[in-house]
Amino acid sequence: MKFQAAVVTGASAGIGEALAVQLAEQKTNLLLVARNQTRLEALAQHLKNKYKVECHVLAADLSKAGEARRVREWCEQNKFPVDALINNAGIGQWGELDKKNLVANLATIDLNVRGLTELTGEFFPLLKQRPSAVLHVASTAAFQAIPTFAVYAATKAYTLSFSRALHHEWKAHGISVTALCPGPTKTEFMSKAHISHLDKLAEIFSMDAASVARVGLKGLAQKKREVIPGFLNWLTSKIVQFAPRTPSEIVSGKFFR
Ligand SMILES: NC(=O)c1ccc[n+]([C@@H]2O[C@H](COP(=O)([O-])OP(=O)(O)OC[C@H]3O[C@@H](n4cnc5c(N)ncnc54)[C@H](OP(=O)(O)O)[C@@H]3O)[C@@H](O)[C@H]2O)c1
Repeated sequence: MKFQAAVVTGASAGIGEALAVQLAEQKTNLLLVARNQTRLEALAQHLKNKYKVECHVLAADLSKAGEARRVREWCEQNKFPVDALINNAGIGQWGELDKKNLVANLATIDLNVRGLTELTGEFFPLLKQRPSAVLHVASTAAFQAIPTFAVYAATKAYTLSFSRALHHEWKAHGISVTALCPGPTKTEFMSKAHISHLDKLAEIFSMDAASVARVGLKGLAQKKREVIPGFLNWLTSKIVQFAPRTPSEIVSGKFFR
C-alpha cells in the first residue's frame, strides 16, 4: 500500500522524523506536526528539495484539548487527502511517582493517551473517505508494568490495546490500524525522560530510528495488527507476555532503577 498524504505527529525529531523521511522517499505528501515549528520547517524544506513532495507544517501541542481538531480542520481547509495518520508523538517521565513529578506524568497521559485518542477520533471522518491506514507508536513497555516508569508503561499499554481494538473495529471502514512497538531507540527520548543513567546500556541494545521507522512502515503497508522491530525486542516481548508477571515486573524495575 502506497500513501498519497500522511499526517505525522512528533515529526520534529527521532522516530517521527525518520518516518517522515521514509514516507517522503515513497513520494507521500506530508503534514508534519509537533510543537517546534523551526525544526519542522527545516525538515519540510529538506524533504521538499530532496524528494519533490508537498510538505506542510503545523505547530501544535497535542497534549492540549482542541489541538487535534485544529489539525483535522487544517486538512479539510487545505483539501489534504489524508490516507495515513501516524500517531507518533510521545513523551515519558522516569522516576518513582511522587508529588514532584506528578505534573510531568499527567502531561504524559495528556499526550500519549488523550491526545492520541483525540487525534484518531477526529480523523475518522477523513480516513473513511478512502482506503487508509493508522500507525500508533506504542513501545515494548506496553507489554509489562515497569516500576519507576509506571505511567509511561501504562500509557503504552493503553496505546497497544486501543490500537489492536481499532484494528478490528475499523476494518469494515477500509481503515487498517497498526501498532508499532519499538524497544530502546537512539533518539532524544531517553534524555528528555531523564533515563540518561541507562545511556551506556541503551547504547548496546538500541536500534536507530531509521530501522524502527522502516519496520513500522512495512507493517503499516502490510496492514499488520502489531509490529515489534528487532529480534531481541520481539523475543523479550514474547517472554514477558508468557512469563509469570510478578518476576518480570521485579526484573524490569531493577533494570530501570
Ligand atoms: N526512543 C525510544 O527508546 C522509544 C522506545 C519505544 C517507543 N518510543 C516512542 O516513540 C515515539 C517517538 O519518540 P522518539 O524516541 O522519537 O522521541 P523524541 O526524539 O523525543 O521525539 C518525540 C517527538 O514528539 C514530539 N512531541 C513531544 N511533545 C509533544 C506535544 N505535546 N505535542 C506535539 N508533539 C510533541 C516532539 O516534538 P516537539 O518537542 O517539537 O513537540 C518530537 O517530535 C514516542 O511515542 C515514544 O514513546 C520511543
